[in-house]
Amino acid sequence: MVLDPHDFMAKMADRISFTSEDRALLKSSASWGAEIAPDMADRFYSFLGRDEEMNAILNASEGRIHRLRETFVDWFAEMFTGMEDDWGTSYADRRWRIGLIHVRIGIGPQHVVPAMAVVVQAVGERLRAEGKSAALQDSLSKICMIDLAFIEQAYVEVTAAAVLKETGWTEGLFRRLITSGAGTM
Ligand code: HEM
Repeated sequence: MVLDPHDFMAKMADRISFTSEDRALLKSSASWGAEIAPDMADRFYSFLGRDEEMNAILNASEGRIHRLRETFVDWFAEMFTGMEDDWGTSYADRRWRIGLIHVRIGIGPQHVVPAMAVVVQAVGERLRAEGKSAALQDSLSKICMIDLAFIEQAYVEVTAAAVLKETGWTEGLFRRLITSGAGTM
C-alpha cells in the first residue's frame, strides 16, 4: 500500500491539470517567488503561532521555529522552480518526505489544510497588490494543492501501513473494516 511518490506526483498533476503552461509561468516568476518567500513565511508562522496546539508543536524543541522558517522559504521557492527536474522525481521525493515528517510529528489534516489555505490566501493578496496575473495565481494554487495532497496522503498511507503491519490484516479486510466502520457512524 505504500505510495510511490513519482506515480502520485504524475497522477496529481494530471488530475489537477498542472500543465506545461503552469510550469512555464511559475518558472518565469521564480525570482519573484524567492523574493516574497520570507514574507510568506512570516504570515504562515504567525498564523500557526495563534493556535495554542500548533504553537506548542512549533516551540517544542530548541531552534525548531528558526529551522522551520528556513525550510519554509526553500519549500515556497521550490514551487516556482520545480527543483532540478521540472516537478519530477526530486520534487515528488521531497514532497513525500515533507509529508512523512508531518505524520511523524503527529500533524494531521485539521492542521495542514487551514495552514495551506493561509499560504494560498497570503500569496493571492501579494499577487493582487503587485498586479500579477490571475493565470499565475491559478498555477500557484494548483501546485499548493498538489503539495497539500502529498502531506494528506502521507497521513493515510502511513496509518494504513502501520495497521497492516501490526495486525497482519490484508488490505481487503482493512478496507472493508473502514467502509463498515464509516457506515456505523
Ligand atoms: C501548508 C502546510 C505546511 C507546509 C508546506 C510545511 C512545510 C514544512 C517543511 C518544508 C518542513 C521541513 C521538512 C524537512 O525537514 O525536510 C516542515 C517541518 C515541520 N513542520 Fe511543517 N509545513 C506545513 C504545515 C505545518 C503545520 C500545520 C505545523 C504545525 C505546527 C507544522 C510543523 C512542522 C514541524 C514541527 C516540522 C519539523 C521541524 C523540525 O525539524 O523539528 N507544519 N514543514
